[in-house]
Amino acid sequence: MSEKPEPVNDKNAWWRSAVVYQIYIRSFADGNGDGIGDISGLRARLPYLADLGVDAIWINPWYPSPLHDGGYDVVDYRDINPLYGTLGEADQLVKEAQDNGIKVLIDIVPNHTSNLHRWFQEALASPAGHPTRDRYHFRDGRGMDGSAPPSNWLSVFGGPAWEQTSDGQWYLHLFDVSQPDLNWENFEVRREFESILRFWLDRGVDGFRVDVAHGLFKAPAYPDIAEGGDLSVPRQQLDHPFWDRDEVHEIYRRWRTVLDSYGDRMMVAEAWVHPDRLTLYIRDDEFHQSFNWDFLAAEWDAKEIARVIAESYERACKVEASPTWVLSNHDVMRHSTRYGLPRGTDWHRWPMEGPHDVLDVAAGCRRARAAALITLSLPGSAYLYQGEELGLPEVWDLPESALDDPTWERSGQTIRGRDGCRVPLPWSSEGPSLGFSSAEPWLPQPAAFADLSASSQSVEEESTLSLYRRAIAIRQDWLIADEEIELIDLGPDTLAYRRGTGIACVVNMGSDIQPLPDGEILLTSAPLNGGELPPDTAVWLSLTPSTTNSTD
Ligand code: GLC
Repeated sequence: MSEKPEPVNDKNAWWRSAVVYQIYIRSFADGNGDGIGDISGLRARLPYLADLGVDAIWINPWYPSPLHDGGYDVVDYRDINPLYGTLGEADQLVKEAQDNGIKVLIDIVPNHTSNLHRWFQEALASPAGHPTRDRYHFRDGRGMDGSAPPSNWLSVFGGPAWEQTSDGQWYLHLFDVSQPDLNWENFEVRREFESILRFWLDRGVDGFRVDVAHGLFKAPAYPDIAEGGDLSVPRQQLDHPFWDRDEVHEIYRRWRTVLDSYGDRMMVAEAWVHPDRLTLYIRDDEFHQSFNWDFLAAEWDAKEIARVIAESYERACKVEASPTWVLSNHDVMRHSTRYGLPRGTDWHRWPMEGPHDVLDVAAGCRRARAAALITLSLPGSAYLYQGEELGLPEVWDLPESALDDPTWERSGQTIRGRDGCRVPLPWSSEGPSLGFSSAEPWLPQPAAFADLSASSQSVEEESTLSLYRRAIAIRQDWLIADEEIELIDLGPDTLAYRRGTGIACVVNMGSDIQPLPDGEILLTSAPLNGGELPPDTAVWLSLTPSTTNSTD
């Protein structure tokens, strides 16, 4: 008989205030010496994650895959890529992590499979109109001879979103040509994914990060998009033929029922949608959480960040979800570099030359340390990306021959892509791959990584790693007891808020030194200056009662 499920929307549920650490497994730690991160490398580093104090890890896709899109091109959802290990090792990892008090979330990729997936191979081998083709989006082309694609949609990675097969039909791929989109109108597709969820839940994982959660459904008539098919900015448009269509919610309601039947499991959405629509994904019968892109995209500006915090918090409260805070992941420029760029820089498009002449490296590092104290003191969950606790920068100067992201080729070599945030971690200051592997790493590490290694930072009191460790420890004691937050007005250049426990976070985002309210200092991101707060510095303090006025 199965155990009685625990209530999942309980205010004390673990995921409501978790620190979740993202593992880009290819680049985390290599255990078998082939230059590619793997499960055995990750298992060996569990003590590091336990010391850091994280509550959970989210592991990027680890399934068999030709890795045309870093593993988001899945061949078999019920197995492990031999480069990373075996199913048995995955089971051991889940158990060992949980024994260390760390929950395990894995990545589910429902929008598309790899073109090497058995289903797609069957579809290709079948004639037009065959049921195996209905699992994907196969269509005849336009024009007298069908030689024009069925619509003008473009792939997120560049180029058309339709590819013609040898028998003349076209299939849809919103991402790489090797990632055909699944047809979620097809009931076999729906049943298959519920079964995949159960497969992993039965193996003990604590939940899922759901890839492209807003993408699953497409308007049946595949209408052209007015602005020339550009689909790289889904959040701007409310009524879109394939992003954020209402039908997706029915799927997640079903998935939630599956998760709830297992008790205390969770799922977090990667949904790049208009912020007003994001709350729909985190209603109490859908996702538990959704990544908060507004926070990630905000400029280093006190007013802007205060506004984003207030709005994100309100939106989550409205549906009784808990907010999330994320600054970096495997798809975006690392924030220690982003914060060093001039205001308004379009960091989504990766400049061919790199912004070396405009990048203020020191400011970026200072701000990233201060931002850690923001992320870790807000109510809700903090999602950290591997290496941010070491203050790793974006790597601009990877040789073109090393670039692996499909964006590079599909953009006609005009956009370098996301490899610069995926460079293997430096674990020590010496050796062929700075302790990542006994071999050369799959992406070259810059010389500057040697000084940022985990081993050297472990023993330095003032290092970024030590700052994260202290912050996470204090957070456990002081900051997760409630979900209250109140903004405090300390002037236009200062971000300040108080948590329900009386702890405040004050951040100087201007260029002049700022006075601090009275209180006991718990932690600072950089030394204070005669008791005052230097620019780009954050402080946590236990406020002396009635020294400040709230803004609301
Ligand atoms: C998500 C992933 C990204 C991947 C894309 C296609 O945005 O985070 O890495 O390329 O989906 O699966």
